[in-house]
Amino acid sequence: MSTQHTPAPPSSPPPRRITAPQIRARKGSEQPIVALTAYHAHTARLADNHVDMLLVGDSLGMVLYGHGSTLPVTLEQMITHGRVVASAVTRALVVVDMPFGSYEESPQQAFRNAARVLKETGAAAVKLEGGARMAETIHFLTRRGVPVMAHVGLTPQSVNTLGGFFVQGRDEAQWDIIEDDARAVAEAGAFCVVLEAVAEPLARRITASCPAPTIGIGASAACDGQILVMEDMLGLNPNPPKFVKEYADLTGVIDRAIAEYAADVRARRFPAPEHVYDMKKRQ
Ligand code: KIV
Repeated sequence: MSTQHTPAPPSSPPPRRITAPQIRARKGSEQPIVALTAYHAHTARLADNHVDMLLVGDSLGMVLYGHGSTLPVTLEQMITHGRVVASAVTRALVVVDMPFGSYEESPQQAFRNAARVLKETGAAAVKLEGGARMAETIHFLTRRGVPVMAHVGLTPQSVNTLGGFFVQGRDEAQWDIIEDDARAVAEAGAFCVVLEAVAEPLARRITASCPAPTIGIGASAACDGQILVMEDMLGLNPNPPKFVKEYADLTGVIDRAIAEYAADVRARRFPAPEHVYDMKKRQ
C-alpha cells in the first residue's frame, strides 16, 4: 500500500457575494438585475442559485404573519428573518427592510437601527421607504457605511396617508413629484430604487432619468431590474396583485398533498412498512 499522501483536489474558492456598489454599477446595463423577497432559509438557499439580490421585505408582516398591512412589523422580526436569510445565502446581496417607525424620526434614529440590522443579521444593505423627504437620511446612512435601497411610488408603510394600496402616477399631475423622489434618493446615495405600482410610462421615464438602477414591481419592463414577492410568484397568494406572474401553483400542490396525506392516514395506508423502524437485529 502506498504511503504517499495524495493532495486534496484544489477546492474552489467560496463564491463572492454580490455587493451594493456592483448593483449600482449595473445602471443601464443590458442585463436586468434579478431580485426576489425571501423570509426563510430554505427558499433563500434555492433562490440564491438564480438571483442577484434577496430582500427580506417587511411584506413578511402580511405574507407570513397575516397582518392587513406592514405597519405592525417590528425591528426584532426583521432582524430574526434577516439573520436566517443572510446565513443561508452565499452569493446574492441580502437587503433587509427597515420597518415602519424604525427610521423616519431622524437620520440618527435610522443609523442606530440600520447599524443593528447590519451587525445582527449579516445582511449588507437596508431598504427604506420614501422619496425626497428621506434624502437627508439616505445621505447620512450611506456616508456612514450603510448601503441603502430606496423605495418610491406605492410605499405600503404610508397606506394610511395614501388611503389604500393604489397605483401611483396614473394622473400626469403626479409625475414630476414621483420622478423628483426617485432622483433625490439616488443623488443622496441609494444604490438602487424600488419603483412599486407606478404607471408604466412614468416608470420608463424615471428609469431614463434616475442615476441609480430602478427595480420595478408593478412598474415597467424598461426598469433596470425586477423584484417580486416570492410567495406571490409561487402561487401562494389567494389574491395576487395584477402585476404578479405566477410561475407555479404551490397552493394547488400543497392542497393536493395534504388531502392525499389525510386520506392515507384515514385509510391506514400511511405509515407504510418503509416508514417505520424495525427492532435491532439479534447477533
Ligand atoms: O416588503 C417588500 O417585500 C417590498 C417589496 C415588495 C419591494 O418592499
